Amino acid sequence: MRVLRYTILMSEQQPPSPQHFNSQIYPETVRLEREGYLGLSPKQVYRREAAFALRAAGVKGPENFREGEGIVDTACGVGNHAFQMSDMLERKVPIEGVDVAGKLIEIANERLQKRIQQGIHDRIAQFTEGAMQGLEKKKLSGRNVRLITNLGSSFFGYMGVGQMKESLLHFYNLLEPGGQLVIQWRGDDPDETQKQWEEREARIRGKRKKFSVSKSQENVAGYPMPLDMVENYDKTSSCYLRYIDAENPAVVDGDSAAEVAKYEPFTKVIDGRPCKGWEHTTSGIQFLSYERVYRDAQGKETVLPPTLIAKMKEEKEDNDRPKGSPPKEFDGMKKLLRETWFRDDANAADRNVRFVRGEGEEEHLGHQVLNALVATKPG
Ligand SMILES: C[S@@+](CC[C@H](N)C(=O)[O-])C[C@H]1O[C@@H](n2cnc3c(N)ncnc32)[C@H](O)[C@@H]1O
Repeated sequence: MRVLRYTILMSEQQPPSPQHFNSQIYPETVRLEREGYLGLSPKQVYRREAAFALRAAGVKGPENFREGEGIVDTACGVGNHAFQMSDMLERKVPIEGVDVAGKLIEIANERLQKRIQQGIHDRIAQFTEGAMQGLEKKKLSGRNVRLITNLGSSFFGYMGVGQMKESLLHFYNLLEPGGQLVIQWRGDDPDETQKQWEEREARIRGKRKKFSVSKSQENVAGYPMPLDMVENYDKTSSCYLRYIDAENPAVVDGDSAAEVAKYEPFTKVIDGRPCKGWEHTTSGIQFLSYERVYRDAQGKETVLPPTLIAKMKEEKEDNDRPKGSPPKEFDGMKKLLRETWFRDDANAADRNVRFVRGEGEEEHLGHQVLNALVATKPG
């Protein structure tokens, strides 16, 4: 394991281990962002994302599943989307969740038990600890998998490129023929005019709520939560990303040597600061290092642990794309599917991989739009 060094260190916090580097500051920070930025409650966000994912897959109700078929929700966290999908499918479709963070899985299972005590009978078999890139049928309950979901911007950004490819291969092996993979993420809407964007922003600003999750000293992933940040978070608080000069891409640590050899470091000046990044040369996927900074009503700033963001190399601004065209992340993921699922047939990716963009207010999250990649395993 490589040693991580940061030129800008967190105040009084140890640099996180690679295991923590990217995935573990969820869910408190995500909630803060969702409430603060998007003007929606976390529950509304999960509901919209879950409903959109089902629509993207063409699922109208439980009748779209045959007996014995179910859903596997990957990167399920504390089960937010899985419970939403269960409710939307009248609790008739078996769903199971998998996440690499054991503590989140523990919470998801506690929530499941609580629902059972309340007389809510999901057909959620279980939540299981495990990495996407190691997902195997024998670790799950053995049902036929009709749909694999990966919701809440959880695929493109938490893994190195080799791990993304491994995950896609495991998804392929797990799916029954004709089964679908839905990867959903959030992004700016390139088709929205500046005026529409400003109107959305204005609506959100007025709706920003006071932060209201439990004020425990430690968040579920074991980070000390900056309590004052939680307590002082209000309408005038804000959050921004600060790009930093981190030394090593921990996300690459789990990749094979062959894949690691394809990364090249680069430095880019963003917002007047040097940002260290790594580019995966054959796919064009870049990893940039940044940290989130929360500024409270008094202007006091709290810096959260560094993380990496995966982006497609910017050859052209997203805003310059032709109307209706998918964002670059889609191109990147499709490229990886071409190299994994559709190696033997160059045109198969075009036939079997679709892009779906959210439509209307219900498929937006504040000023962001919902995006989905839907891949069908040839039957
Ligand atoms: C943005 S959160 C989304 C969680 C959940 N879908 C939601 O929105 O409530 C990303 C999740 O991905 C999980 N994760 C990150 N890398 C993973 C991996 N390699 N395999 C499985 N889960 C992973 C994290 O632990 C985290 O719970």
